[in-house]
Amino acid sequence: MLLQLKNIQKRFGGVVALRNGSLDVNAGEVHLLMGENGAGKSTLMKIVAGMLERDGGEMLWQGQGVHLHNPVEAASHGIAMVHQESLLAPHLTVAENIFLGREPRLPLGWVNRGEVIQRAARLIEDHHFPLKAEWRVEKLSPAGKQMVEICRAIQQGSSLLIFDEPTSSLSESETQEVFHIVRGLRDRNVGVIYITHRLEELRAIGDRVTVLRDGETVHSGSMSEVTTDQIIRHMVGRELTSIYSREPVQPGEEVLQVEHLTREPVLKDISFCLRAGEITGMAGLIGAGRTELCRAIFGLDPIDRGTIRIAGKPVHIRSPRDAVAQGLALIPEDRQRTGLATALPISYNLTLASLGSVSRFGILDHTAERKIAAEYTARLRIRAESSKQRAGRLSGGNQQKVAIAKWLVRGARIFLFDEPTRGIDVGAKVEVFQVMDELARGGAAILMVSSEMTELLQVADRILVMRQGRISGELPGRTTPEQIMRCAAFEVSAATTEEHPE
Ligand SMILES: Nc1ncnc2c1ncn2[C@@H]1O[C@H](COP(=O)(O)OP(=O)(O)OP(=O)(O)O)[C@@H](O)[C@H]1O
Ligand SMILES: [Mg+2]
Repeated sequence: MLLQLKNIQKRFGGVVALRNGSLDVNAGEVHLLMGENGAGKSTLMKIVAGMLERDGGEMLWQGQGVHLHNPVEAASHGIAMVHQESLLAPHLTVAENIFLGREPRLPLGWVNRGEVIQRAARLIEDHHFPLKAEWRVEKLSPAGKQMVEICRAIQQGSSLLIFDEPTSSLSESETQEVFHIVRGLRDRNVGVIYITHRLEELRAIGDRVTVLRDGETVHSGSMSEVTTDQIIRHMVGRELTSIYSREPVQPGEEVLQVEHLTREPVLKDISFCLRAGEITGMAGLIGAGRTELCRAIFGLDPIDRGTIRIAGKPVHIRSPRDAVAQGLALIPEDRQRTGLATALPISYNLTLASLGSVSRFGILDHTAERKIAAEYTARLRIRAESSKQRAGRLSGGNQQKVAIAKWLVRGARIFLFDEPTRGIDVGAKVEVFQVMDELARGGAAILMVSSEMTELLQVADRILVMRQGRISGELPGRTTPEQIMRCAAFEVSAATTEEHPE
């Protein structure tokens, strides 16, 4: 047995994050850690990885009681963690980040840069990651950053590796690569703890599973002895089916028309429309240009050619401000960086985009603000101490929910959702689908970019597929995963950068 956690407790001020976190991991097993957003998964793992100190309980490492005070101590015991939020140094290169703090050195103590690059390049190549050792991390998409985190943890050559949602921003083929890595670790007798919200991953990867609810371990056992529905029941503490199905709607008139939109080299001659009352899905591999398309329509990136029409009239969108004025909303993919003011309260974040509706005569109406905040925290089940809590203090999934709610509060006619369900728990996913359905029924036009094929098939009325900067197909909502894959992946080449490095 590698690791035993008994009755771990942790509080942050008045918030009890863990009341009884218990778990044990053997060498050579993949142990899943499940639970709703805010259940305490990341907190428990940060304690194991030496990033947080526990308030109570016991941690045994290879049979010995230990107290780890920092990540360096954890690393010296052979414990490494791939983080949910990227902790990389943005201005350094991929290679520098992989070796940060453990660089190979030359005799006089200088960092051996040649070797850093060479070894990083080999690591990247071994795992077929679409990265270059010399690229700067700040230019990478969330998926690219995740891959760097993974390389970094593997490079440490640990005996326990913790993956906190490693695939939440990855596409199908990259997810398979992560599975391959995890299985390889298991075969080399490494213990793996794996946190995920993707239910399909349970059977694909897990040997045993532990479920946390409200900071407490409520179930622990072998994967073969538990059904997926039972795991969900343990997580949410009530009956819930993960199967969502939506009544199709009769679409209305075309609200947004995109014609020949081009932005070299990422978007090539793109034409499509969104209709009122319709949810249009958008599938594609990472790097196909889906995020770039949303950004271009929303005025975040300039376009080279093409026309955008709203309600039939050509419009010039040169900035997000123009886009908002035209009734557009973008719920971005990289919500940590672009979606939230992490230092400010939840209530402020929720109403930031819609100050008009919570101010009277230019003065902020706190009662209105609080009412809105209360309504949406309840609807999306945002787990927080109060709406005054700083958004940055929320768990990863709850931050996503705030970023989504912010645009729902504002109200718009055309919504661009970029990976709306990334990192959020089963219950909240269904909640988000219901909100999208309500918006559509109220006449909004919705574009839903998603790498989760099962979700597109559950929710979308129609599915567009992008490949290498072009629309490569349009499929009906009730299609098959095979059809989507065929359109998405003829030549698999994924650029993982948002802006192509020079
Ligand atoms: N630094 C902090 N300050 C205050 N509260 C915190 C802090 N970090 C976590 N919390 C709170 O502790 C609780 C558990 O958070 P944690 O991040 O462990 O959840 P999680 O299970 O990883 O959720 P998710 O699935 O959303 O990532 C949450 O209520 C969160 O708001
Ligand atoms: Mg977490």
